Amino acid sequence: MVVAPVASAAAPGPGAEGMTGTRPWNAVDPGAREPVIELADVRKVYASGSLEVAALRGIDLRVEQGAYLAVMGPSGSGKSTLMNILGCLDTPSSGIYRLAGEDVSTLGEDQLAHIRNRRIGFVFQQFHLLAGLSAWRNVELPLVYAGVGKAERRERALAALDRVGLADRAEHRPAELSGGQQQRVAVARAVVTEPAMLLADEPTGNLDSASTDDVLGLLEELSGAGSTIILITHELDVAERTGTTVHIRDGLIDGETVVRG
Ligand SMILES: Nc1ncnc2c1ncn2[C@@H]1O[C@H](COP(=O)(O)OP(=O)(O)OP(=O)(O)O)[C@@H](O)[C@H]1O
Ligand SMILES: [Mg+2]
Repeated sequence: MVVAPVASAAAPGPGAEGMTGTRPWNAVDPGAREPVIELADVRKVYASGSLEVAALRGIDLRVEQGAYLAVMGPSGSGKSTLMNILGCLDTPSSGIYRLAGEDVSTLGEDQLAHIRNRRIGFVFQQFHLLAGLSAWRNVELPLVYAGVGKAERRERALAALDRVGLADRAEHRPAELSGGQQQRVAVARAVVTEPAMLLADEPTGNLDSASTDDVLGLLEELSGAGSTIILITHELDVAERTGTTVHIRDGLIDGETVVRG
C-alpha cells in the first residue's frame, strides 16, 4: 500500500496529547457553555485504489453554543472533509463527533439525514434555491421534510423571511431577486428549523462586495441573537468579521481548539 505524503494516520496528532496532558480537552471549566460540537481525535482516511489519503489526522475541536467561527486553510488541507463531517454528510474513519450532545460518528445514512434536517442549517456558495418556487416556498422546504403542518410552515417561513429583511419579497422567484437577496433567502431557509448550528460554506463566494457586506451583516445579527455559526472561507476579510478563526493545515487544526460562545 502506498501512503500519500499527508498520510501519517498512525502518528498521533496534537489532539491526542491534549487528551492525556495536564489540561484535557474536555476538562470541566465553570465558565464554559454547552458545546454544540465536540470532535475528539477525528480522522478521515480516503482510499482510492491502492492510495490512502489521510485528509483529517486527529482533529480535536469544541465549539460552544453561540460561537461564531471561521475555518480557513490552504487548498487540500481538509476543509471540505471537515465540513462534510460537521454537516453529517459523511462520517469519520475514527474518532468521536458529538453534535448537540449526541454521538453522530457511527450513524447510518437515514439517521444522518434526519440529524441534518433537524439540527443543521446549510448555506452554500451557489445558494441552491429551487428556481420554480417562490421565496417563501423555498424557505418552507426543510419544514416539509420535518413533517410540519401547512399553516405552521407558511407562518414560520414568512417569519424567517422577515428576519432576513425580505418580508416584501416572499412571492418572488429566485430569478427576480439579486444575488445578495437570494443568499438571504438561503439563510432564511437554513434558520427556519431553528438548527443547533448554521454551516456556511463560502457563503459570500459568489457575491459582490455590497451583497457580501449584507450577508455578513445578517450572519452577525444571527450570531448576536445566539445562533452558532461555522463559516468556511478563503477570504481573510470575511474570516476577520467572525469571533474566532480556526486554521487547518494538512488535516490538523493549528492552535486554539476550544471556541467560546
Ligand atoms: N473522495 C476523496 N477521495 C480521495 N481523496 C480525497 C477525497 N476527497 C478529498 N480527498 C483528499 O483529501 C485531502 C483534503 O481534501 P479537501 O477536499 O478536504 O480539501 P479542502 O481544504 O477542502 O481544499 P479546497 O480549498 O481546494 O477545497 C486532499 O488531499 C484531497 O486530495
Ligand atoms: Mg474544499
